[in-house]
Amino acid sequence: MDSFIIRGPSRLKGSVNISGAKNAMLPLMAAAILTEGKCVLENVPDLKDTGTMSELLRGLGVDVEFSDSRLFLDASKIESEEAPYNLVRTMRASIYVLAPLIAKRGHARVSLPGGCAWGPRPIDLHLKGLMALGAKIEIDHGYIEASADRLHGAEIILSVPSVGATVNILMAAVLADGETIIENAACEPEIVNLAEALKQSGAIIDGEGTSKIVIKGVKEIQPFNFRVIPDRIEAGTFAAAAVITGGKIEIRDCEPDHMHSVFDKLSACGAKIELSQNGFTVEAPEKIRSTEVETGYYPSFPTDMQAQMMSLLCLADGTSSIVEHVYPDRFTHVPELRRLGADINIDGRVAIVNGVGRLAGAPVMATDIRASSALILAGLVAHGETKVLRIYHIDRGYERIEEKFAAIGADIRRISD
Ligand code: UD1
Repeated sequence: MDSFIIRGPSRLKGSVNISGAKNAMLPLMAAAILTEGKCVLENVPDLKDTGTMSELLRGLGVDVEFSDSRLFLDASKIESEEAPYNLVRTMRASIYVLAPLIAKRGHARVSLPGGCAWGPRPIDLHLKGLMALGAKIEIDHGYIEASADRLHGAEIILSVPSVGATVNILMAAVLADGETIIENAACEPEIVNLAEALKQSGAIIDGEGTSKIVIKGVKEIQPFNFRVIPDRIEAGTFAAAAVITGGKIEIRDCEPDHMHSVFDKLSACGAKIELSQNGFTVEAPEKIRSTEVETGYYPSFPTDMQAQMMSLLCLADGTSSIVEHVYPDRFTHVPELRRLGADINIDGRVAIVNGVGRLAGAPVMATDIRASSALILAGLVAHGETKVLRIYHIDRGYERIEEKFAAIGADIRRISD
């Protein structure tokens, strides 16, 4: 298993290019199932999850080729409708094949994803939404067995604006008979990206990016040729790295418009943010200021940036608070940050972070994608050596992260134990 060895403290300076967004690419890959012919995705990051979704699609009979940030997908010869447990358990977003398989093939057998390190992560809203569209769904031996002769439009009110449920319902509704309305839909840029690709293919969708999406079903949709949006969480992670290391980083090839809540909090910490032609520059303050952060659904502060923000606040002047509204148990990074000398207390969904003068290197264990990047950030400023174990998590969601950090002055290397 690979680990990172980081020697700190270091001050990061330079520029970094942001890759395509994992969370935009995965639904787009699944959406290819809705089409017949060659779909092309541009700006695709080379991630472990790209490989997992490719393997899953190949298992269904989709022809998948990846070359030089481009992904070619041809779903004309699908011969299976099964997403097996061994793949779904390593990547929950495998559930995205459920709706397109039902809509296009009339049947799907998809393993239930199960829980994750930070909570149960249910999929009840995906299933209720698909049932409202006419799918018959049963759970059998750990698998979702779903079928439908023909889906029909419906009005679906989500009790929470789930990204995953919005993606699955949207993909099913484009080929359903009649009109579907998703109320309390997720507004994330990744949903807009998916809707735009589907619209380019002939789907009729209105309201993406707002909490009410209206879809008028069509008989078929054509293959798409589409560009994946930049990863706003990767951009936010590098922005946080500039602040925590007292450095200055130009973050290129990203979409600042997707990052207002992150900019607000980094500015509250004293960071200076200036927009540039295709990105922005972040400059750290003399001393990080404490602040209050509450995660929420887009456009609120993303839960996927909570761990990185916490690393940064560990070194702030005074006491900060973080309230995790999306996943109340998403604090598995806290015991690891404490190993580096952080002073953090958890009470339910609230973390109180007392700023400390310095962190000290130690071995720490990564528990999920974003927790891993938070540990790297802390390792960059911790005095001495930090070893981050189980970095396979980070390889799922960040492209060549150690190369990107090394290029802007970090002392970081990958070792195989
Ligand atoms: C997506 C992102 C993940 C991010 C999360 C929240 C992908 C591949 N993953 O995950 O990185 O952390 O959004 O921004 O895009 N919920 C239910 N029932 C459901 C579905 C969700 O109760 O059927 C709840 C969840 O427990 C959670 C909230 O809704 O509290 C949001 O979850 P959701 O938006 O669905 O997250 P994912 O799509 O799994």
